Amino acid sequence: MNLSKLMKASLLLTALSLIVAPFVAQAAESAAEHDQRMAWFRDARFGLFIHWGVYSVPAGAWNGKLNYGEWFMEETKMPVSQYEKFAGQFNPVKFDAKEWVRLAKDAGMKYIVITSKHHDGFGMFRSDQTDWCIKSTPFQRDPLKELADACRAAGIKFCFYHSIMDWHHPDWGTRRAWNDKANGTPDMDRYTAYMKAQLKELSTRYGPLGIMWFDGEWEAPWTHARGLDLYNYVRGLQPNIIVNNRVGKGRSGMAGMDKGAERVGDYGTPEQEIPPTGYGPGVDWESCMTMNNHWGYNKNDQNWKSSTTLIRNLIDCTSKGGNYLLNVGPTSEGAFPSASIERLEAIGKWMKVNREAIYGTQASPFEKLVWGRCTQKKLAAGSSVAGFRQHAAWPFDDPRGKSGADVTRLYFFVYDWPANGQLVIPGLANQPVRAFLFDGRKPLTFTDANNCITINVPADAPDKSASVVALDIQGAPQIR
Ligand code: GLC
Repeated sequence: MNLSKLMKASLLLTALSLIVAPFVAQAAESAAEHDQRMAWFRDARFGLFIHWGVYSVPAGAWNGKLNYGEWFMEETKMPVSQYEKFAGQFNPVKFDAKEWVRLAKDAGMKYIVITSKHHDGFGMFRSDQTDWCIKSTPFQRDPLKELADACRAAGIKFCFYHSIMDWHHPDWGTRRAWNDKANGTPDMDRYTAYMKAQLKELSTRYGPLGIMWFDGEWEAPWTHARGLDLYNYVRGLQPNIIVNNRVGKGRSGMAGMDKGAERVGDYGTPEQEIPPTGYGPGVDWESCMTMNNHWGYNKNDQNWKSSTTLIRNLIDCTSKGGNYLLNVGPTSEGAFPSASIERLEAIGKWMKVNREAIYGTQASPFEKLVWGRCTQKKLAAGSSVAGFRQHAAWPFDDPRGKSGADVTRLYFFVYDWPANGQLVIPGLANQPVRAFLFDGRKPLTFTDANNCITINVPADAPDKSASVVALDIQGAPQIR
């Protein structure tokens, strides 16, 4: 290649990297270090979001209106002095950290993100910076400490959601008219110092954290410079922590990915939506979604998504190379709503059979599959993926290809089970090695002709939410 060609190629590469640039960490870090820091998050695929605060006392109902949630204070415009009284009624005597963690773990979740502070400014932990926290409730314990300990014991990554916007603090730049406790002029430097002091408490008293999940960054007083500084501050306290992109100003609305030059943070945060396609390797994201219509507890909201929808949302995110952060809004007594528990259990039942097809997988190599979704994993000799051999019904002696070449396992999530018993995989150029049904680990026969691999499956779908069929192929997938 001559010099001008080289220059053209490098210009093209630079341009490409600007278009598809991953979320770049601001602190100095090599690509390999970045990958290492993100590794657990990329493997996990599934987490629990918990929105819990004193807004769970009114439980979404006020003056005949039933549709409030964690935005209660802003939407009712209740004077701060009146809202503060909810703290006196917040007494979650049913709270059992180990039980919450058990529910999450049994559902197949690998991390928990809980609100240390939502937009109402109330700290769900014992903070030395303010009385507007759990200290001023009859519940004298620190639920977040208990949860942190329970997570650590269970091998679940513990993470905080911390709101940047604060309707309660007198120094938040867009102070609300109904903040009847605040005097003087708001001062964002003072506010930032306060928030940093709280973040220091959270980063030094609760053990190693998985993620600092910021939110409420969109109001004008929060700037790119403040976002950048906060990112570096949090990474400075815990170098391995992952920080979402809502720390800065780059987020593009509910779609959640970053645009423009003001990108800060490690991953994108689509909200209540799953992107139509993934963004390629190295661009990390996590869709956060509710089970009903609210994040915070709303006792009248019975608009629950079915467990099939939730399972398919998890599959959908995973098949596009992203994570699924599914929310529960506990009551002021400290209990998960029973409808949430039922759904967590249904997901757990599905995960028990099919989790290998979720954890540590990569995005689908197919642009679209009419009957469902796909994920993939490269099989390494002796890896836990080969653990199938311990299964009594497993008939294959070698998890790898006959020739010893690399094998990729494709996991097909079949939503529409073929009535004729033939699952058609279109356009896959690779040599098939073996196929089997996840449920019961049943080997399946297949044919490979006319640019199509056809897997012969039983007449009935093993699982109405999604049945998983695995196909091992030689090499990395090549789609025609
Ligand atoms: C939001 C809301 C909020 C919720 C969150 C979850 O932007 O302000 O109440 O906590 O997103 O992603």
